[in-house]
Amino acid sequence: MSKLAVGIDIGGTGIKAALVDVETGELVSERIKIATPPGGEPADIVAATRTIVDQLTADHSVPVGVAFPSAIRHGVTLLAANISKSWIGLEAEKLFERELGRNITFVNDADAAGLAEVRFGTAKGQQGLVIMTTLGTGIGGAFIFNGTLIPNAELGHLEIDGHDAETRASNAVRERKGLSWERWAKRLERYYSHVEMLFSPELFIVGGGVSKHAEEFLPLLDLRTPIVPAALLNNAGLMGAAVLAAEANGSADTPGSVGA
Ligand code: BGC
Repeated sequence: MSKLAVGIDIGGTGIKAALVDVETGELVSERIKIATPPGGEPADIVAATRTIVDQLTADHSVPVGVAFPSAIRHGVTLLAANISKSWIGLEAEKLFERELGRNITFVNDADAAGLAEVRFGTAKGQQGLVIMTTLGTGIGGAFIFNGTLIPNAELGHLEIDGHDAETRASNAVRERKGLSWERWAKRLERYYSHVEMLFSPELFIVGGGVSKHAEEFLPLLDLRTPIVPAALLNNAGLMGAAVLAAEANGSADTPGSVGA
Protein backbone atom coordinates (compact mmCIF):
# COMPACT_ATOMS: atom_id res chain seq x y z
CA MET A 1 0.00 0.00 0.00
CA SER A 2 1.47 3.34 -0.94
CA LYS A 3 2.25 5.95 1.65
CA LEU A 4 0.75 9.25 0.65
CA ALA A 5 1.05 12.82 1.81
CA VAL A 6 -0.01 16.14 0.38
CA GLY A 7 2.88 18.48 -0.47
CA ILE A 8 2.34 22.20 -0.94
CA ASP A 9 4.92 24.75 -1.99
CA ILE A 10 3.95 28.33 -1.26
CA GLY A 11 5.92 30.95 -3.17
CA GLY A 12 5.67 34.66 -3.78
CA THR A 13 3.94 34.18 -7.13
CA GLY A 14 2.43 30.69 -7.10
CA ILE A 15 1.19 27.92 -4.84
CA LYS A 16 1.85 24.38 -6.11
CA ALA A 17 0.44 21.22 -4.62
CA ALA A 18 0.06 17.51 -5.27
CA LEU A 19 -0.51 14.20 -3.55
CA VAL A 20 2.88 12.47 -3.30
CA ASP A 21 3.97 8.86 -2.83
CA VAL A 22 6.61 9.56 -0.19
CA GLU A 23 8.46 6.30 -0.79
CA THR A 24 9.13 6.92 -4.48
CA GLY A 25 8.66 10.69 -4.72
CA GLU A 26 6.10 10.23 -7.48
CA LEU A 27 3.20 12.64 -7.81
CA VAL A 28 0.07 10.52 -7.65
CA SER A 29 -2.41 13.28 -8.41
CA GLU A 30 -2.51 16.13 -10.87
CA ARG A 31 -0.23 19.01 -9.86
CA ILE A 32 -2.36 21.98 -8.96
CA LYS A 33 -0.95 25.47 -9.41
CA ILE A 34 -2.69 28.69 -8.50
CA ALA A 35 -1.51 32.28 -8.18
CA THR A 36 -0.52 33.39 -4.69
CA PRO A 37 -3.22 35.79 -3.42
CA PRO A 38 -2.00 39.39 -3.90
CA GLY A 39 -0.35 40.79 -0.78
CA GLY A 40 0.40 37.29 0.51
CA GLU A 41 -1.48 37.84 3.79
CA PRO A 42 -1.74 34.80 6.07
CA ALA A 43 -5.57 34.58 6.02
CA ASP A 44 -5.71 34.65 2.20
CA ILE A 45 -2.92 32.10 1.80
CA VAL A 46 -4.54 29.76 4.32
CA ALA A 47 -7.88 30.01 2.51
CA ALA A 48 -6.26 29.29 -0.88
CA THR A 49 -4.36 26.36 0.61
CA ARG A 50 -7.52 24.90 2.15
CA THR A 51 -9.24 24.91 -1.22
CA ILE A 52 -6.34 23.09 -2.89
CA VAL A 53 -5.88 20.50 -0.16
CA ASP A 54 -9.61 19.69 -0.12
CA GLN A 55 -9.43 19.25 -3.89
CA LEU A 56 -6.56 16.76 -3.51
CA THR A 57 -8.03 14.59 -0.76
CA ALA A 58 -11.10 14.53 1.42
CA ASP A 59 -9.30 12.25 3.88
CA HIS A 60 -8.20 14.35 6.87
CA SER A 61 -5.79 11.67 8.09
CA VAL A 62 -3.44 12.24 5.15
CA PRO A 63 -0.43 14.25 6.39
CA VAL A 64 0.03 17.69 4.83
CA GLY A 65 3.43 19.34 4.39
CA VAL A 66 3.70 23.02 3.62
CA ALA A 67 6.94 24.49 2.22
CA PHE A 68 7.23 28.20 2.86
CA PRO A 69 9.81 30.94 2.11
CA SER A 70 10.83 31.67 5.70
CA ALA A 71 12.99 30.23 8.45
CA ILE A 72 10.65 28.16 10.61
CA ARG A 73 11.16 26.94 14.14
CA HIS A 74 8.55 24.94 16.04
CA GLY A 75 5.98 25.91 13.40
CA VAL A 76 6.61 29.64 13.80
CA THR A 77 7.60 31.67 10.70
CA LEU A 78 10.57 33.79 11.74
CA LEU A 79 11.48 35.88 8.69
CA ALA A 80 9.68 37.57 5.83
CA ALA A 81 12.13 38.79 3.19
CA ASN A 82 9.86 38.39 0.16
CA ILE A 83 6.45 37.90 1.77
CA SER A 84 4.06 39.96 3.88
CA LYS A 85 5.64 41.07 7.15
CA SER A 86 2.57 39.74 9.00
CA TRP A 87 4.21 36.30 8.85
CA ILE A 88 7.03 37.32 11.20
CA GLY A 89 6.59 35.53 14.52
CA LEU A 90 3.33 33.90 13.41
CA GLU A 91 2.33 30.46 14.72
CA ALA A 92 1.86 29.43 11.11
CA GLU A 93 1.67 25.68 11.64
CA LYS A 94 -1.04 26.05 14.29
CA LEU A 95 -2.97 28.53 12.13
CA PHE A 96 -3.00 26.11 9.18
CA GLU A 97 -3.94 23.17 11.42
CA ARG A 98 -6.86 25.07 12.89
CA GLU A 99 -8.16 26.42 9.59
CA LEU A 100 -7.68 23.25 7.56
CA GLY A 101 -8.67 20.84 10.33
CA ARG A 102 -5.66 18.69 9.44
CA ASN A 103 -2.22 17.83 10.73
CA ILE A 104 0.28 20.21 9.11
CA THR A 105 4.07 20.14 8.94
CA PHE A 106 5.47 23.55 8.15
CA VAL A 107 8.98 23.69 6.64
CA ASN A 108 11.31 26.08 4.86
CA ASP A 109 10.94 25.85 1.06
CA ALA A 110 14.63 25.33 0.27
CA ASP A 111 14.93 22.72 3.03
CA ALA A 112 12.05 20.79 1.49
CA ALA A 113 13.56 21.03 -2.01
CA GLY A 114 17.01 19.98 -0.81
CA LEU A 115 15.68 16.97 1.02
CA ALA A 116 13.75 15.86 -2.08
CA GLU A 117 16.86 16.18 -4.27
CA VAL A 118 18.89 14.03 -1.88
CA ARG A 119 16.12 11.41 -1.58
CA PHE A 120 14.91 11.23 -5.16
CA GLY A 121 16.84 13.61 -7.36
CA THR A 122 20.21 14.69 -8.52
CA ALA A 123 22.07 14.01 -5.22
CA LYS A 124 20.43 10.67 -4.44
CA GLY A 125 22.64 8.82 -1.96
CA GLN A 126 25.26 11.59 -1.83
CA GLN A 127 27.24 11.51 1.43
CA GLY A 128 28.89 14.44 3.19
CA LEU A 129 27.54 17.97 3.04
CA VAL A 130 25.25 18.83 0.14
CA ILE A 131 24.17 22.46 -0.16
CA MET A 132 20.94 23.11 -2.00
CA THR A 133 20.39 26.63 -3.25
CA THR A 134 17.22 27.85 -4.90
CA LEU A 135 17.50 30.82 -7.22
CA GLY A 136 14.09 32.47 -7.39
CA THR A 137 12.59 35.63 -5.95
CA GLY A 138 15.13 35.24 -3.16
CA ILE A 139 17.91 32.70 -2.64
CA GLY A 140 17.06 29.70 -0.50
CA GLY A 141 19.63 27.49 1.16
CA ALA A 142 19.61 24.01 2.68
CA PHE A 143 22.24 21.85 4.33
CA ILE A 144 21.88 18.09 4.01
CA PHE A 145 24.59 16.08 5.73
CA ASN A 146 24.75 12.34 5.04
CA GLY A 147 21.10 12.48 3.98
CA THR A 148 19.92 14.35 7.08
CA LEU A 149 18.48 17.83 6.78
CA ILE A 150 19.93 20.54 9.03
CA PRO A 151 17.13 23.10 8.85
CA ASN A 152 17.00 26.86 8.34
CA ALA A 153 20.26 27.65 6.56
CA GLU A 154 19.34 31.17 5.40
CA LEU A 155 22.10 31.32 2.81
CA GLY A 156 20.35 33.99 0.76
CA HIS A 157 20.98 36.46 3.56
CA LEU A 158 24.75 36.14 3.80
CA GLU A 159 26.26 39.58 3.62
CA ILE A 160 28.65 39.67 0.68
CA ASP A 161 30.48 42.86 -0.35
CA GLY A 162 28.13 44.82 1.89
CA HIS A 163 24.93 43.45 0.32
CA ASP A 164 22.33 40.91 1.36
CA ALA A 165 23.36 38.20 -1.13
CA GLU A 166 19.91 37.57 -2.62
CA THR A 167 19.51 41.25 -3.51
CA ARG A 168 22.51 40.86 -5.87
CA ALA A 169 22.30 37.33 -7.22
CA SER A 170 18.74 35.98 -7.17
CA ASN A 171 16.96 35.12 -10.40
CA ALA A 172 14.49 37.95 -9.75
CA VAL A 173 17.41 40.39 -9.78
CA ARG A 174 18.68 38.90 -13.07
CA GLU A 175 15.24 39.42 -14.59
CA ARG A 176 14.66 42.87 -13.11
CA LYS A 177 18.01 44.20 -14.24
CA GLY A 178 17.99 42.36 -17.55
CA LEU A 179 21.40 40.80 -16.77
CA SER A 180 22.94 38.61 -19.47
CA TRP A 181 23.79 35.04 -18.42
CA GLU A 182 27.46 36.08 -18.35
CA ARG A 183 26.90 39.07 -16.05
CA TRP A 184 24.65 37.08 -13.78
CA ALA A 185 27.19 34.24 -13.69
CA LYS A 186 29.81 36.69 -12.35
CA ARG A 187 27.48 37.51 -9.45
CA LEU A 188 26.73 33.83 -8.90
CA GLU A 189 30.42 32.97 -8.89
CA ARG A 190 31.06 35.59 -6.19
CA TYR A 191 28.18 34.13 -4.22
CA TYR A 192 29.03 30.44 -4.54
CA SER A 193 32.76 30.95 -3.94
CA HIS A 194 31.92 32.68 -0.66
CA VAL A 195 29.60 29.85 0.37
CA GLU A 196 32.18 27.20 -0.57
CA MET A 197 34.89 29.05 1.38
CA LEU A 198 32.67 29.04 4.47
CA PHE A 199 31.31 25.49 4.33
CA SER A 200 33.42 23.31 1.94
CA PRO A 201 30.50 21.19 0.72
CA GLU A 202 30.80 18.07 -1.44
CA LEU A 203 28.19 19.34 -3.88
CA PHE A 204 26.06 22.35 -4.73
CA ILE A 205 22.59 21.81 -6.20
CA VAL A 206 20.92 24.67 -8.00
CA GLY A 207 17.13 24.72 -7.97
CA GLY A 208 14.37 27.19 -8.73
CA GLY A 209 12.59 27.61 -12.06
CA VAL A 210 15.73 29.00 -13.72
CA SER A 211 17.56 25.70 -13.15
CA LYS A 212 15.95 24.47 -16.37
CA HIS A 213 18.33 26.90 -18.13
CA ALA A 214 21.33 25.65 -16.14
CA GLU A 215 23.42 25.01 -19.25
CA GLU A 216 23.39 28.78 -19.90
CA PHE A 217 25.07 29.75 -16.64
CA LEU A 218 26.47 26.84 -14.59
CA PRO A 219 29.34 26.12 -17.07
CA LEU A 220 30.43 29.76 -16.66
CA LEU A 221 31.13 29.32 -12.94
CA ASP A 222 34.68 28.63 -11.80
CA LEU A 223 34.36 26.85 -8.46
CA ARG A 224 36.20 24.12 -6.55
CA THR A 225 32.92 22.38 -5.75
CA PRO A 226 30.84 20.43 -8.29
CA ILE A 227 27.62 22.33 -9.02
CA VAL A 228 24.64 20.62 -10.66
CA PRO A 229 21.06 21.56 -11.53
CA ALA A 230 18.19 20.16 -9.50
CA ALA A 231 16.63 17.12 -11.15
CA LEU A 232 13.13 17.63 -9.79
CA LEU A 233 12.80 21.20 -11.03
CA ASN A 234 9.86 22.96 -9.51
CA ASN A 235 8.36 19.87 -7.86
CA ALA A 236 11.18 19.46 -5.35
CA GLY A 237 9.62 21.76 -2.73
CA LEU A 238 6.25 20.06 -2.64
CA MET A 239 7.82 16.59 -2.74
CA GLY A 240 10.12 17.35 0.19
CA ALA A 241 7.28 18.92 2.17
CA ALA A 242 5.20 15.77 1.68
CA VAL A 243 8.08 13.55 2.82
CA LEU A 244 8.71 15.63 5.94
CA ALA A 245 4.99 15.61 6.77
CA ALA A 246 4.78 11.84 6.39
CA GLU A 247 7.83 11.38 8.61
CA ALA A 248 6.53 13.79 11.23
CA ASN A 249 3.29 11.82 11.31
CA GLY A 250 5.06 8.49 11.47
CA SER A 251 3.09 7.43 8.42
CA ALA A 252 5.90 5.12 7.32
CA ASP A 253 4.53 2.77 10.00
CA THR A 254 0.89 3.44 9.27
CA PRO A 255 -0.91 1.97 6.28
CA GLY A 256 -1.84 4.75 3.84
CA SER A 257 -5.54 5.44 4.04
CA VAL A 258 -6.10 6.75 0.55
CA GLY A 259 -5.19 5.44 -2.85
CA ALA A 260 -4.15 1.91 -3.72
C1 BGC B 1 13.94 33.45 2.61
C2 BGC B 1 14.20 31.96 2.76
C3 BGC B 1 13.71 31.23 1.52
C4 BGC B 1 14.29 31.84 0.27
C5 BGC B 1 13.75 31.18 -0.99
C6 BGC B 1 14.56 33.95 1.33
O1 BGC B 1 14.32 35.32 1.16
O2 BGC B 1 14.48 34.16 3.71
O3 BGC B 1 13.57 31.47 3.91
O4 BGC B 1 14.08 29.88 1.62
O5 BGC B 1 14.02 33.22 0.21
O6 BGC B 1 12.38 31.28 -1.10
